[in-house]
Amino acid sequence: MHAEQEKIISDSWMFPTTYNQLVSILVSGVMIETRNLTKKFNGLTAVDHVSFNVKKGEIFGLLGPNGAGKTTTIRMLATLTRPTEGTATIGGYDIVKDDNEVRKLIGLVSEKIIMYDRLTAKENLWFFGRLYDVPKEVLNERIDELLRLVQLSNWKNSQVGTFSSGMRQRMNVIRALLNMPEMLLLDEPTLGLDPQSSVEVREFVKKINRENKTTIILTTHMMVEADMLCDRIGIIDHGKIIALDTSANLKKLVSGANTTVLELEIANLTTNMVSLIQSLKCVNSVSQDNSTHIKVHANGDESFDTIIDSVRAEKGKINSVKNLDPTLEDVFLYITGHEVRDKADRKIPVRRHKHSMPRSRVR
Ligand SMILES: Nc1ncnc2c1ncn2[C@@H]1O[C@H](COP(=O)(O)OP(=O)(O)OP(=O)(O)O)[C@@H](O)[C@H]1O
Ligand SMILES: [Mg+2]
Repeated sequence: MHAEQEKIISDSWMFPTTYNQLVSILVSGVMIETRNLTKKFNGLTAVDHVSFNVKKGEIFGLLGPNGAGKTTTIRMLATLTRPTEGTATIGGYDIVKDDNEVRKLIGLVSEKIIMYDRLTAKENLWFFGRLYDVPKEVLNERIDELLRLVQLSNWKNSQVGTFSSGMRQRMNVIRALLNMPEMLLLDEPTLGLDPQSSVEVREFVKKINRENKTTIILTTHMMVEADMLCDRIGIIDHGKIIALDTSANLKKLVSGANTTVLELEIANLTTNMVSLIQSLKCVNSVSQDNSTHIKVHANGDESFDTIIDSVRAEKGKINSVKNLDPTLEDVFLYITGHEVRDKADRKIPVRRHKHSMPRSRVR
């Protein structure tokens, strides 16, 4: 027997393991702890020495573009793939050594929806519930409760193949809740959903966190989603966590960086004006939204006046100037120097000013 195994057995002999884990969570308040978690595929480092903690009851977001390493991180935490290097514990259990214990604590909602179209909602849930060893005596009641939670009670006896994508995704999430996990791992829970369904799923995620105190880790490439749902956000890019904090604190990184973004409406906007603004020393970039609106990202205390003066010098008729609040997109651009590489969610990234300026000036 390996010394490691002997140690685990002797520890469990002295104290019940579950008791040990319980004490550890209660004392530290930490549900997930990753230390230098790394996954390499041949030559590619998909997840690169990632370290973070998730507190009990928290919604923690891993936000990053396509290929950043989100799914790979989730798969390691879900014990579906082993780390190449580093460690992680869930509820005090090691994801490699105690993988069976970890699986009892977690529910996983993966990117792909696994559901049998020809079975009804109830039949699907019954099937998966039995697969997760949920006792028959409680399963019926739990299925009813979960269907009620996602407002699908009326469709209990309908085939899942007839459901809308939003209904299917809500089914996908409650499937992961059948064994009442302490911890829910959600990989891109609203991917491919229409806006209305996305709102429903997000509301549901909030609800289970609030009502069941379920700790949640979710991945998303949608800044808005991370902003709306997560207590804290880890921004991941090229396998590395490059920033980790609350949304408000992350935004302070940008607003404290002496950068500004102005949205200008110029009635007689010309390409010459755009080029002129672009050529100003204080200006980082200019993007044109439509025939009259531009967004200007600039640096420095004098940038506001310099930009306005140059537009006026070109006889530009300024209808309005807005100084916008930072978004997580700005944070991403500020930290990485590049835009989120996802076309579907692409918005124009902007930078903001650290000094207080009226939010909206109309001239
Ligand atoms: N099984 C695998 N074999 C080889 N490379 C892989 C494997 N799984 C993932 N990768 C690579 O690892 C990197 C991270 O992939 P991962 O799926 O974790 O990213 P992601 O952040 O979830 O991206 P997406 O937003 O597209 O879902 C990518 O470059 C991907 O091609
Ligand atoms: Mg993914």
